[in-house]
Amino acid sequence: MENTIFEKQKVMNIYTKRNNSCMNYFLVRITEKCNNNCIFCSAAHVRNNQSLSLENIKNMVDANADKKKGIEIGGAEPTLHKGFFKILEYCADKFKVITFTTNARMLCYRKFVSDLKKIPNLCIRCSIHGPNQEIHDSLTRTKGSFAQTIKGFANLSEMKIPFDVNIVITKSNVKYLSKTVDLLNSYNVSGIYFSGFMPISKKDIDLKLAVPFDELKAKIRDVLEYCIKLNIPFYIEKLPVCIAPEFSDSFIVESYKGHFTKVKECIGCIFINNCMGICKKYFEEGFFTEIFPVYK
Ligand SMILES: C[S@@+](CC[C@H](N)C(=O)[O-])C[C@H]1O[C@@H](n2cnc3c(N)ncnc32)[C@H](O)[C@@H]1O
Ligand code: SF4
Repeated sequence: MENTIFEKQKVMNIYTKRNNSCMNYFLVRITEKCNNNCIFCSAAHVRNNQSLSLENIKNMVDANADKKKGIEIGGAEPTLHKGFFKILEYCADKFKVITFTTNARMLCYRKFVSDLKKIPNLCIRCSIHGPNQEIHDSLTRTKGSFAQTIKGFANLSEMKIPFDVNIVITKSNVKYLSKTVDLLNSYNVSGIYFSGFMPISKKDIDLKLAVPFDELKAKIRDVLEYCIKLNIPFYIEKLPVCIAPEFSDSFIVESYKGHFTKVKECIGCIFINNCMGICKKYFEEGFFTEIFPVYK
């Protein structure tokens, strides 16, 4: 079982530019297991029950340990790896920060969250897909997932553990972004990531979830202004800067741009070197009918 995931493993060094500061990360994908079945999941086609062994993870960590770098503990749902805490503990003194993204369902257990509190230099990013059970559970295709995710946020907030939240913007939740922000604000979220939807999985992905560029442009501006009003830090990722150029400093630029492209209109745009560009598939499917480069 382990061999296949190990062979597929890409040791990646990525950098993320956020607020004009850059951080290099070593990314290790520890498991392909997941307890959700998100309709938009970019990794749906590789979903299976495989996990890397603790021994292999430790070897990879040792080979890449660097106190100037971060480590991203990735996967489908990393909290489902049976050695999750052993991995965090092992990484603790080997990297500047340890980060992971989670659907937060395991965080509904208080003991799980109190154990997280013991790990130094942890950056937790959770995901939510809407302001209520109806929207969220229909996107995760998992009944009860909203309730567990929200309980996870409540536990983090109660134990005063900082956490960010990622929202992937789709047709199902684009009208409810401000409502979702209200919900997150009630749990004292540290920051919100608004992410573009990448219709890149080879399996099961519904292109009807994609929000056309002109609609997204208006909605994103409204919700970012709302975050400013509520004093919540925010970031925008997997989207081109021209979607909200007045917030250009809040865009995340990743070094790995495999799924992204620039188009001929980008030539001459003042943000060309500080922009992810446009998700290729999004572009090919015609969701970017108009591009709005910024020439001065
Ligand atoms: C692949 S998931 C893995 C971590 C965890 N299972 C979760 O859902 O938070 C990492 C992040 O990517 C987001 N994501 C998944 N599929 C995506 C897609 N097609 N486009 C953009 N973001 C996506 C998820 O919502 C999550 O915030
Ligand atoms: S919870 Fe994360 S890994 Fe699991 S299906 Fe959803 S996006 Fe994919």
